[in-house]
Amino acid sequence: MGSELTIGEVAYRSGVAPSALRFYEPIGLIVSRRTSENQRRYERSVLRRIAFVQAGKAAGIPLAQIHGALATLPEGRTPSRRDWERLSRRWSKDLDRRLATLQALRNRLTTCIGCGCLSIDRCSLLNPDDEAARLGAGARYLIADRD
Ligand code: FES
Repeated sequence: MGSELTIGEVAYRSGVAPSALRFYEPIGLIVSRRTSENQRRYERSVLRRIAFVQAGKAAGIPLAQIHGALATLPEGRTPSRRDWERLSRRWSKDLDRRLATLQALRNRLTTCIGCGCLSIDRCSLLNPDDEAARLGAGARYLIADRD
């Protein structure tokens, strides 16, 4: 194995499908150079960028935000541990909100969420005549539990 990696090697080492790697390139998440046979070659450091992308995705961060975070690094630098701490701190508010939504959803999985559907048996008790509609659009009880 040379210092540069083929797309197959990157896919194997990162656990990310070649199709996803090809997708990441035009949206600026990773870069490669092309050989004279038009094959992709990656610097070994691409593995850390991919790990950063995967960590962000696992946390539910949209690719556009992950790209934005990577774009703050000087000249496409690979994120260091310190970068990861700094960049992921920006996402913590988002994550807190997402966690709160999931907890609220879990607490209301078997009851009414105030969405206006009035289709669950208990809705006639918890949301008679769609009273939740007065609170605004969306799943009002879920939103209220979260916020
Ligand atoms: S679940 Fe939709 S109004 Fe109750």
